[in-house]
Amino acid sequence: MASKHDRSVLIATEGFATLRAMKASKPPGATTFGGRACVVTASAFICLSACQQPTPPPQQTTWFKDVQPLVQRKCGTCHEAGGIGPFALQTLADWKAVEPQALDAIRTGRMPPFPAKMDCADYSPTTALLADQKALIEKWISEGELEGTPTDFAEFPEAPDRLTRVDLSLPMKEPFTPTRRPDEYRCFLIDWPFDVPKFITGYELRPGKKDLVHHADIFFLNPVVVPTWQARDDAEAGPGWECYDIPLGQEGSWIGTYVPGNRGVDFPADTGLKVPVGAKIYIQVHYNLTFAQGAPDVSTLDLRLEDRVKKIAGVMAVSDPNWIIQDTMVIPANQKDVEHHFDIEATRFSSLITSNFIDGRPLKLYATTMHLHQLGQSTSLTIKRADGSTTCAVDIPKWDFHWQLAYTLKEPIIINPGDQLSVSCTWDNTAANQPVINGQRVMPRTRNWGARTEDEMCVAGIYVTQ
Ligand code: HEC
Repeated sequence: MASKHDRSVLIATEGFATLRAMKASKPPGATTFGGRACVVTASAFICLSACQQPTPPPQQTTWFKDVQPLVQRKCGTCHEAGGIGPFALQTLADWKAVEPQALDAIRTGRMPPFPAKMDCADYSPTTALLADQKALIEKWISEGELEGTPTDFAEFPEAPDRLTRVDLSLPMKEPFTPTRRPDEYRCFLIDWPFDVPKFITGYELRPGKKDLVHHADIFFLNPVVVPTWQARDDAEAGPGWECYDIPLGQEGSWIGTYVPGNRGVDFPADTGLKVPVGAKIYIQVHYNLTFAQGAPDVSTLDLRLEDRVKKIAGVMAVSDPNWIIQDTMVIPANQKDVEHHFDIEATRFSSLITSNFIDGRPLKLYATTMHLHQLGQSTSLTIKRADGSTTCAVDIPKWDFHWQLAYTLKEPIIINPGDQLSVSCTWDNTAANQPVINGQRVMPRTRNWGARTEDEMCVAGIYVTQ
């Protein structure tokens, strides 16, 4: 396929670059409790008191009514059997077993992992534990950790942070066994089965081997570039091919990203990505074998589909073409707080996001994800208004390569002609912040833009409509 340079030109002409990641979140695990039914004894009175006694007055917080819905929703999506959390957090017994650590992780903000600042914007659905939710857990503790009644449990009442319907399941065509340590990047193509255009309105990637799949980026390829990517697949033995780059610009569209704990998402109501006839699904999987042995993986993409939507959506990757073409994103060795930023009047390039958009019209921003690599220190996306004011879309003061979340805005942000999208990244390229590869901390060296993990990036992925 095109060299790095060719692909850069492609991006440059379009005024935007590499797209990536967005993420969704996760639903509560469907835990069932052993129902604590009232045992009818010879004495109805004993039964009555035994059944009624544990039910506390309604104003008191209880495990089943208040805390379990939160813990399952905000912790249990990773802390479950077979999940990436090191222990389960589903039941009261699970909670009690790790309570001091769990409380410390909550109070210090280490858990749940949520690197964005909460005073930037309101996100919903969100995997964050909000201040009032933390307060509820503290209240429960101060009231003596009452258990309450299992029937009081109800799923956490928030926008569903999961895929709510599956219309199509697309498994990888064959199992793939990663063998490279510590990392292996592999791309897979999957046929698109429709002979009429369809709209994707939600997705979930289900990894076959949760302990091996570090993350995955999911795209569709437009028909015109399918043969080029197919040739790469055909050129390499085994399922898929080794790959570091991803479809850019009008080669196709990003659909979503899997990171551990992510159980898919519905796209914002009435919006969807239009997939043309003859497209192919493209999945780039990053396998990590640091803690596990290679084993055959068949990951599956579940999709929610519609025949039509009210608003066609597009995904734009915002970053500076000069970083890619002219290698201007220099990050000198042994320096920290190295900053690069890029401003763009996105409404002028709308038709490049998808051919369904018309240049010059306002855009509606629904969700954002940021993408840097391992040396990333901080990043943000801000809308600089024509009148000099600013609107914060996402602000990550301490970048964490492992938690590349997508941030869905509770209220979409309108981007008007004249407004600039402003992407900013900083890096720490000192010795202390270098990654450890094969047990050895890498020596600092000057970095620049590139697709491999040892290169760096600075990209804001945005999900927009007109
Ligand atoms: C998105 C996945 C995810 C979610 C959600 C999550 N955890 Fe974790 N948690 C992990 C992983 C992975 C580890 C082990 C690696 C690490 O410590 O970062 C971990 C480790 C921990 C640890 C031990 C290490 C430490 O930092 O203390 C505690 C305690 C913990 N989690 C509690 C919680 C609680 C409580 C919640 C919910 C409020 C929660 N976690 C939500 C993924 C998650």
